[in-house]
Amino acid sequence: MADLQPRSAVQRMAPYSPPSSGRAGKLRLDFNENTVGASPRVLEALQRALSAGALAVYPEYVETKPALAGFFGVSPDEFILSNGTDEAIQVLVNTYVDDEDEVIILHPSYAMYRFYSEVAGARIVEVSYRAGSLEFPLEELLAAITPRTRGILISNPNNPTGTAIRDVEPVLQAAPHAAVLIDEAYYEFSGITALPLLGRYRNLFVSRTFSKVFGMAAMRVGCLFSKAENVAWLHKAQSPYSVNMPAAIAARAAIEDRAYVDGYVREVLEARERCYVGLQRLGVKHWKSQGNFVLFVSPVAPKELCAELRAQGILVRDRSHEIPGTVRVTVGTREQVDRFLAELEALIR
Ligand SMILES: Cc1ncc(COP(=O)(O)O)c(C=O)c1O
Repeated sequence: MADLQPRSAVQRMAPYSPPSSGRAGKLRLDFNENTVGASPRVLEALQRALSAGALAVYPEYVETKPALAGFFGVSPDEFILSNGTDEAIQVLVNTYVDDEDEVIILHPSYAMYRFYSEVAGARIVEVSYRAGSLEFPLEELLAAITPRTRGILISNPNNPTGTAIRDVEPVLQAAPHAAVLIDEAYYEFSGITALPLLGRYRNLFVSRTFSKVFGMAAMRVGCLFSKAENVAWLHKAQSPYSVNMPAAIAARAAIEDRAYVDGYVREVLEARERCYVGLQRLGVKHWKSQGNFVLFVSPVAPKELCAELRAQGILVRDRSHEIPGTVRVTVGTREQVDRFLAELEALIR
């Protein structure tokens, strides 16, 4: 008998290993997280909810789902709760994409689109953001759609370019046979959303996360929205308990503190302007961003820049494997941006 072998789709995959240790105690401008933390109300709710007895029970979402539905302006049967956006992508792919089906992703973009599509054995069709401007390549994307396309996975705004597409309707209209995901992980910083289109397009899926503006990346919770008939299929392909009880409690508490989130968004938007001004002053080429991060051309070798900043206690992310010479910095508070700019200046001089 032959030896145990993983599926060929898994064997073909390149290893993906994002840095996942050694970040404690540093200024974390590498993962586009909230850099100050979740609302204190989230912690209070968790402290109230956690007990030995409560931990013994499988999670229920009877309070969280209606609360989130109200917050997002949809009905409870128009979304699933997910273990972060990552599980939302996985469930969408598992529900709609078969071995050898085509999935269109953009380049560069969030790595998990390729990851879950490859695990599923899909044929990946990659469309590049426009060279130089890094604008959304709408015409190129439309030209890539074929009858075999079953998924189109779009980050809007896009990580790491920061660029966005304002109107996704041409994509939805051109691919009625494909599940079109609009991943709105950074929605609060861009104000651009496809959620109001949900009623009009049977093939539209929108994801949101609690990992970014809400400061809850560790909790792993997100939502995937679509028409109720699609959501019923998604449920069928999803584990019934993938969002744990503390995460469900935390999400409900987080949406109740709108002032906290609004305040953080205001701070980041001001800090983002400050970041542009600082980079401009240092003569560092960068792209205007709709997210809480800025992509720039490193004035020294990207690897060296990341290592030097790390030595000063600041983490940023090398993106030069995707766009030569570039590094991405997360925008946190004005003070944090100033610290980053000061270290960058010291490095250049
Ligand atoms: C576009 C995009 N979507 C999703 C995520 C991660 O989402 P989650 O933590 O909800 O899985 C990220 C994180 O960097 C991202 O950039």
